[in-house]
Amino acid sequence: MKVLTLLPLFSLVLWLSPASGADGGVLATGGKFTGTQSCGTTGCHGGGTIHNESIIYERKDPHAVSYGILGKGTSLRIAEALGIKGDPAKDIQCNVCHAPMQGVAPDLFVKDLKPDRGVGCESCHGAAENWLRFHTRPDVEFAQIIAAGMRDLNDIYNRANSCVGCHLNLDESLRKAGHPELFFELDGQCAAQPPHYHDARPSLGSRSWLTGQAAALREMSWKLAAKQDENFLPRWKALVWLLQKTDLGRTELPVTEDFSTMQKAADGLARKAAQKLWPTGLVKAQLKEFAAVYTEFEAAKADKVQLQRKAEVLVPALDRLWRELVKSGASKQTECEAAIQSLHLLALDHEDFDPVRFAGTLGQLKVLLAREDAPSAAK
Ligand code: HEC
Ligand code: HEC
Ligand code: HEC
Repeated sequence: MKVLTLLPLFSLVLWLSPASGADGGVLATGGKFTGTQSCGTTGCHGGGTIHNESIIYERKDPHAVSYGILGKGTSLRIAEALGIKGDPAKDIQCNVCHAPMQGVAPDLFVKDLKPDRGVGCESCHGAAENWLRFHTRPDVEFAQIIAAGMRDLNDIYNRANSCVGCHLNLDESLRKAGHPELFFELDGQCAAQPPHYHDARPSLGSRSWLTGQAAALREMSWKLAAKQDENFLPRWKALVWLLQKTDLGRTELPVTEDFSTMQKAADGLARKAAQKLWPTGLVKAQLKEFAAVYTEFEAAKADKVQLQRKAEVLVPALDRLWRELVKSGASKQTECEAAIQSLHLLALDHEDFDPVRFAGTLGQLKVLLAREDAPSAAK
C-alpha cells in the first residue's frame, strides 16, 4: 500500500497506537486533541515572560508556519510534479509532516474543535484531553501527568523520537519532485527551533547529538529494510561509520549490512546514549578522534559520493561537541569555530565535493585542538 511507505515510523498516526515499539507506548492513552489554541491563553502559556511558550511558538517557531508553506511556490511545484490535485495541505503525502492534525479522524478531537493547521503543541507534547485540566496543579506529580498521556520530552530518547519521525525519512518520490533532502541532528535542531524551555542539564549537547544520531540510524535502517534506495544507502553507511567511532557505538553497533539487525542495535544505542553523561575529557577526546579521520579523506581512490556523505554527518558532530566544550568553559580556541564553519561549507557541496580540501581543513582543526592542550597554550 503506497501510503504506508510515506509514514515516518514515529508519525502521529503511529504514535496513537500502542504498538509503536521503540517508544515504550508513552503516548498511547487514547485522549483526544484539544488544539494549540487551548494552550495559549494569557492565564496559561501565552502569559508574559514566565509562561511565554505559546508566544515564542507563534512568533519564532518554524512549526507554526509549516502549514502555510504548503500553499506557496515551491510546494505547488512539488505537488504538481507528484500529480497531487488540489490543495497539498489536504494530501497525506504532505500533511503527515507539515499539518499532521489535518489527517486525524474527526472523532479524535474534542467536540467542535477545528484541527491545528501546522505542527502544534500536541504534535510534540501528546493529546491533551486527559491531562489538560490538572497538569498545573501543584499536588500532581509529573509521573501522573505522563501516565495521563503527556509525552515525557524531558527524556532525551523520547525527545529524539518525537522529532525524527518528521525530520529524516522522506519518500524518494518527494525528493525527486524537488522536496529538500531531510537531515536530522537533535541538538542543533533543538537550538534552532528555538526552544521555548530551559534545559541546562550537564552534557546535554553531546548526549543529544549521540542520541539523535542513533535514532536517525534506527530510522534509516528501518527505511532501508523495507525498500532499497540507492540515494539513501551512502547516507546510512556514513552514519554507521561515524557512530562506530564513538565509545558507545563501538560496543553497541555490530559490523553488518543487515538493516533489521542494525535497526535494533541503533535503538539500543539511542536508549543508552540518552542516559550517558559525557565528562569534558571525553568530549575533547571524541573531538580529537573525529579530527584525526582527515587521512581517510586524502585517499585518492575513495568514492567521492560516499566521502561527501561522511563529511555531511561528521561536521555537525564536530560542531555540537565543540560548542559543548566552549559552553563548559573547557575551551577558548575561537579559531576552531572558523575551521568548523569552513568544513560545513565544504561538506554542503554535493555536486563537487573536494575531499582533499576537506582533509586539509580537518587536519588544521586537529592541530588547533592539540595546540590548546599544550601546557604553554597561548590565550
Ligand atoms: C517526512 C516529513 C515530510 C513530508 C512527508 C513532507 N515534508 Fe516538506 N519539509 C519537511 C521538513 C522537516 C522540512 C524542513 C527542512 C529543512 O528546512 O531542513 C520541509 C521543508 C519543505 C519545504 C521548504 C520550506 C522552506 O521553508 O524552504 C517545502 C516547500 C515543503 N517542505 C513542501 C512539502 C510538500 C509540498 C510536501 C508534500 C508533497 C511535503 N513537503 C512533504 C518534512 C516533510
Ligand atoms: C516541535 C516540538 C514542540 C512543539 C511544537 C511544542 N513543544 Fe513544548 N517542548 C518541546 C520540548 C522538546 C520541550 C522540552 C521538554 C523538557 O525538557 O521537559 C518542551 C517544553 C515545553 C514546556 C516546559 C517548559 C519548561 O521550561 O519546563 C512547556 C510549558 C511547553 N513546552 C509548552 C508548549 C506549548 C504551549 C506549545 C504550543 C504553543 C509547545 N510547547 C509546542 C517540544 C515542542
Ligand atoms: C509532525 C511533524 C514534526 C515534528 C514532530 C517536528 N517537526 Fe520540526 N519541522 C516540521 C516541518 C514540516 C518543518 C518545515 C517547516 C517550514 O519550513 O515551514 C519543520 C521545521 C523545523 C525546523 C526548521 C528547519 C530545520 O530543519 O532547521 C527546526 C529547527 C525543527 N523543525 C526542529 C524540530 C525539533 C527539535 C523537533 C522535536 C522536538 C521537531 N522539529 C519536531 C515537522 C515536524
